[in-house]
Amino acid sequence: MMRTIAWDDERELVALIDQTLLPAEYRIVTCAKADTLIEAIQSLKVRGAPALGAAGAFGVVLACMNAPDDRSLRQMVNKLRAARPTAVNLAYGVDRAFQAALKGASRSERVAYALAEARQIAEEDVVVNRQIGEHGSALLEDGDVVLTHCNAGRLACVEWGTALGVVRTAVAQGKRIEVLACETRPLNQGSRLTAWELLQDGIPVTLITDSMSAAVMRQGIVDKVIVGADRVVRDGVFNKIGTYMHAVVAKAHAIPFYVAAPCSSFDLKRLSEEVRIEERAPEELIYCGTNQLAPRDVRVYNPAFDFTPFELIEAVITERGVIRPAELTER
Ligand code: MRU
Repeated sequence: MMRTIAWDDERELVALIDQTLLPAEYRIVTCAKADTLIEAIQSLKVRGAPALGAAGAFGVVLACMNAPDDRSLRQMVNKLRAARPTAVNLAYGVDRAFQAALKGASRSERVAYALAEARQIAEEDVVVNRQIGEHGSALLEDGDVVLTHCNAGRLACVEWGTALGVVRTAVAQGKRIEVLACETRPLNQGSRLTAWELLQDGIPVTLITDSMSAAVMRQGIVDKVIVGADRVVRDGVFNKIGTYMHAVVAKAHAIPFYVAAPCSSFDLKRLSEEVRIEERAPEELIYCGTNQLAPRDVRVYNPAFDFTPFELIEAVITERGVIRPAELTER
């Protein structure tokens, strides 16, 4: 299987797995213009914080290739950076690639510098995910059942994954690990993507609805919770809507709640109140595909992410090791 997102040298464009079609269809789509990539980001064809970092960087390459002048290049780069507001990796990837591009004097030099940096970001993500896996797998014991939310797997990264990378590494070490995947309404990244990925790898996975998490924790069948992050700030972690609920419930049942995230998701200059949580279209709740689930004119509240304070988090698993929240706030 190809990486979630990659540069196609021959055709000079970005190729990515269209995650909106999974699990029914595995299709690679291409983006030859930054605008097409922005649409792919906003429609969640490519999604998940680390994958968005790589997407943003490759998007800068497309912008450098196509922008007629400096002013339009900067406009396009800003549009790309703002395509989704919560995962800090998007801005991180865009900024790194654009800073690199600015070292070039001509258009072709800018493209070459941006591309080298974007490739570097993608390669780093792969290495970092493996390191997160190594550190995190030490926390898992043979026989553990891990509850996860959304998709923090290979599809959310360039490959391997963060939360699911921890599970993958533990399984590769010979531990028997089972995953409880919460479906993650409204866009079902858990049922569509996490379940698909794990089945592909032959890792035992059981699908549950989001609202079952309290019940399964009370039944004593969850040993650990591991989720990813869109942004780690001074007072806690932003991740897919529903994460906070699992953290509260895990605390109530004394189940360790871990966040697995690369340092590129860290934004420790900021507090939670300074971060914008993306609100998405009402249609995501009113319809499921073409099935109408609610009256068309009902008022809808659809935030894509929530915030979990550090007091509910046992540790953040990073490429540099397992960090306890107290150590983070001291930095
Ligand atoms: O809206 P999405 O699908 O981009 O949200 C993704 C998540 O919330 C993930 O848990 C997060 O980005 C971490 S991915 C390693």
